[in-house]
Amino acid sequence: MTESLRILVVDDEERMRQLLVKLLQRAGYEVEQAPCGREALALTRVQVFDLVLTDIRMPEMDGMQLLRLLREERPETAVVMMTAFGSVDSAVQAMKEGAYHYISKPFQMDEVLIVVERVVVEGRLRRELASMRSALQERYGFDNLVGKSKPMRVVYDLVERVAPSTATVLIQGRSGTGKELVARAIHVNSPRHDQPFVPVNCSAIPADLLESELFGHVKGSFTGAVADRKGLFMDADGGTLFLDEIGDMGSDLQAKLLRVLQDHKIRPVGGTKEVVVDVRLVAATNQILEQRVADGAFREDLFFRLNVIPIQLPELRQRAEDIPLLVDHFLVRYGAQSAGHKRISHDAMAALVRYSWPGNVRELENAVERASVLCRDDEIGLADLPDNVRSEQGGRLARLVQDEASLAEVERDYVELVLERHEGNQTRAAEILGIDRRTLYRKLQSWREGSVSGREH
Ligand SMILES: Nc1ncnc2c1ncn2[C@@H]1O[C@H](COP(=O)(O)OP(=O)(O)OP(=O)(O)O)[C@@H](O)[C@H]1O
Ligand SMILES: [Mg+2]
Repeated sequence: MTESLRILVVDDEERMRQLLVKLLQRAGYEVEQAPCGREALALTRVQVFDLVLTDIRMPEMDGMQLLRLLREERPETAVVMMTAFGSVDSAVQAMKEGAYHYISKPFQMDEVLIVVERVVVEGRLRRELASMRSALQERYGFDNLVGKSKPMRVVYDLVERVAPSTATVLIQGRSGTGKELVARAIHVNSPRHDQPFVPVNCSAIPADLLESELFGHVKGSFTGAVADRKGLFMDADGGTLFLDEIGDMGSDLQAKLLRVLQDHKIRPVGGTKEVVVDVRLVAATNQILEQRVADGAFREDLFFRLNVIPIQLPELRQRAEDIPLLVDHFLVRYGAQSAGHKRISHDAMAALVRYSWPGNVRELENAVERASVLCRDDEIGLADLPDNVRSEQGGRLARLVQDEASLAEVERDYVELVLERHEGNQTRAAEILGIDRRTLYRKLQSWREGSVSGREH
């Protein structure tokens, strides 16, 4: 059951190299060879190997150097070191630097085959796991996040990568794009998941109260402070604090927050002692924070501190292909409360996909909930959708009807509409339009050259 595994044998000793090559070839592997690290590296840059089996001591570039470079350039390639008998130190060092295994010389041929077999089995497991995972993501998205469009996959990937760390994350996106959902996904996938997740909406709390909300206060520090109170930072100790609408935070508090990020200490309002807190900060805003910085409304130093890892959420209209998935998701959610969930007519779905969704996923969710409630039978139709969704229905196309436009104009307008919806992705647009990509290209080209007359922009 040998899969065709590619192995590179690196040894300056000709006889040893040939021996290994023959052994591995006979076992059914594809084998290449190199007499030194430098040549080996050159080979790995043009071919992908599953395994590099390398001697440590070689002239020019030795095995350790090769190992280090391979870890950087080809992290998916397993490296097995061959060490001289008695040089345990270098073997240990190699393992520390990320070698997969070592074999000490002189070795039994069986030993080599066993190690290689292990690389095969583990590689297969890893691939299976990866494909299972991506299959799941294809279908469902990530946690409660629905969507399989490219921009959403980028988001899932970022969430996965930042979750294990304590790095501060800044989530930016228009209203209703799912910022809070992403913040929760980060928390849930982090080692802090069994500690509190504390959301704070900075724009909902009056500026003069926000400080004591966040940092707490001591009794008597202001009118109304009748007892000591722990702040939200303390509540989130060990967990994650989600500072929503951070763009609205006043400049006083911005300065204080910056200090917390630097020192990991807070000072309750009216208090004299500082308290150490262990809080992972995730912030979100629907404003363009760079612009707020440029306008002098947001501190640049705080922006940099928060923006360690930026996550930008796409608007719904930039990922229209996710709309049917989201609609199904919400139909199930809102159907579960009544008896079974509803279907949706083809027309209604088409209208939902075409609408521009200024309120993004939240607006879509509301529309689906409303339709689920309003709809009398078990299929949601156009009539059950909100007026604005129905009236925007091809707003541009409707205008063409009114103008009594020619077929060529309608065609051009529709093609442009589809392209806009898919961020100029011609392959996708051609698919939707049901024409060949080259045909689409030719059409665009001819319009650009102005061969269709009768319409000015
Ligand atoms: N990718 C998604 N999959 C499923 N549901 C989503 C997704 N994105 C957003 N939602 C839903 O849409 C609604 C709005 O999401 P959320 O509150 O996270 O957005 P937001 O960006 O924080 O909005 P705002 O800027 O208005 O605070 C929620 O009910 C959420 O469950
Ligand atoms: Mg929000």
